[in-house]
Amino acid sequence: MLLTTAIDYTNGSPHIGHAYEKIITDVLARYQRLLGMPVYFLTGVDQHGQKVEQTAAKEGVSPEEYVEKVTARFSALWAKTGVHYDGWAATTDPRHKRCVQNILTTLKDNGQLYKKIYHGFYSVRQEQFLTDRDRDEQGNFGPEWGEVNEIKEENWYFKLSEHTAWLQGFLEKSDEVILPHFRKAELMNALAKNDGIDLCISRPKDRLQWGIEIPFDTEFVTYVWFDALINYISFAGYGGESADLPDFATTWIDPVHVIGKDIMVPAHGIYWFCMLHAMGFSDEQMPRLLVHGWWNIRGDKMSKSLGNVVDPNLLADTFGVDALRYYLSRDITMGKDSDFDIERLVMLFNTELANELGNLCNRALNMSQRFTAGVLHCYLPLTEEDIALQQSLVESINLYRDAMDHFDVSKALEALNRHVVNCNIYAERMKPWEMNKDPEKKSRVATVLYHLAESVAHCAVLLSPVLPDAAAKLAEQLNRTDLMSLTLDQLSWGLLANDHQINLPSPVFPRIVVPAATP
Ligand code: MSP
Repeated sequence: MLLTTAIDYTNGSPHIGHAYEKIITDVLARYQRLLGMPVYFLTGVDQHGQKVEQTAAKEGVSPEEYVEKVTARFSALWAKTGVHYDGWAATTDPRHKRCVQNILTTLKDNGQLYKKIYHGFYSVRQEQFLTDRDRDEQGNFGPEWGEVNEIKEENWYFKLSEHTAWLQGFLEKSDEVILPHFRKAELMNALAKNDGIDLCISRPKDRLQWGIEIPFDTEFVTYVWFDALINYISFAGYGGESADLPDFATTWIDPVHVIGKDIMVPAHGIYWFCMLHAMGFSDEQMPRLLVHGWWNIRGDKMSKSLGNVVDPNLLADTFGVDALRYYLSRDITMGKDSDFDIERLVMLFNTELANELGNLCNRALNMSQRFTAGVLHCYLPLTEEDIALQQSLVESINLYRDAMDHFDVSKALEALNRHVVNCNIYAERMKPWEMNKDPEKKSRVATVLYHLAESVAHCAVLLSPVLPDAAAKLAEQLNRTDLMSLTLDQLSWGLLANDHQINLPSPVFPRIVVPAATP
């Protein structure tokens, strides 16, 4: 599978929305590895365009200098938050530029591009031309378009309209292309309205310099979206002209683009599919779009002007990377919006990790040290409770797997948590700390602790896509670091052998004590 994220605009600092998308894609990529499947994870930055040019000018630096500085903020955040990508797509990379220019030339040679004069309105904020369909009910261009200017301009156009009938048919017959499914209707509606409209893919250099030059008309640069979308194939090795990029034939396999709902229409859902179609991609080669919702703040959009932008760096520094990754994976349903809430971040970490999983680890590992000298052993016969606990694990793994296969990380974590809760209920019923006082019950104590430790071993593996470092620590405390290289299919009861000696435990999920001032 090829998993990509949107590439982030380098005209500001990364916020929680950017972090969510990268972390969730990292989780999905790690899950593919857990399945033993080959995966290539591509992410990066969108460095061209008018906004970048304008911000750089405001700061009195060149666009090159400006994007370099901002790009470093993004890559540093991904290093800090454990986002391990295989490929880094930065659109000022000469290899990407070459690829975009080659595609433009081929499309022109194939009669897919033409030049015409446009007279109408242009939104500076959205960097796009507007039509009457973009007016509101009063006939005005709404505030979402920012400054709108009337212009008359000659530009290059892509014959998008030649591909929309194909796209409509393609989407109608495929249920798995737009995920979650409920987003498809929105795209179909937009497509129906887009009939007959072509896409302007250039900007004259007297208005914008900071872009990829149109190779056959050097007074123009490429429209930022046309340039940015191509990252998904240029950095996957399309065209094959850069030896240091992967081989396209082995990378472009089951491509899934993880994007926010705001950039499905028109960019990914219409332009990108039509661009690929014009380049000769078959229906089978088309990517899927995994469209996620937004993190809002008390129902409001996060925005600089409202001053409510959440800084993921500050959150990671204050609460730790595990708490941030867990919260962003756990407290949002794929495709839906969620309200960002620091109290819930702390509550979820403290309840599900520090209390519930922490308690299970403490019972399994500490009590094993105290009562059985750290040696695990499962004695037969098993009781009904033992068998029920094993059954609870099987059910959780099945639910986890089904949810992850549907990209629903939150539901998978919920399934995992259910087993953890069942383990603690089992421990409280069995009371190994009471049984241990009775010398006759030593083997029962060992068996109960074995069941808890075996559950921890499974939890470490299942948690590893979301919290890789914490999972590795658990595996280390179990004295089974090799657990981290198991595949999901290899999970079955009995990972820990009889008489296995575990290491000394230490808390992996220390409770978060809320600091006086939170970000
Ligand atoms: N540069 C374009 C994408 C080009 S892809 C070929 C862009 N960049 S962005 O920086 O504005 O957004 C990057 C991603 O972050 C998008 O998928 C966007 O939906 C997502 N998010 C931005 N704000 C968000 C939230 N508040 N919540 C969740 N994700 C959001 O668009």
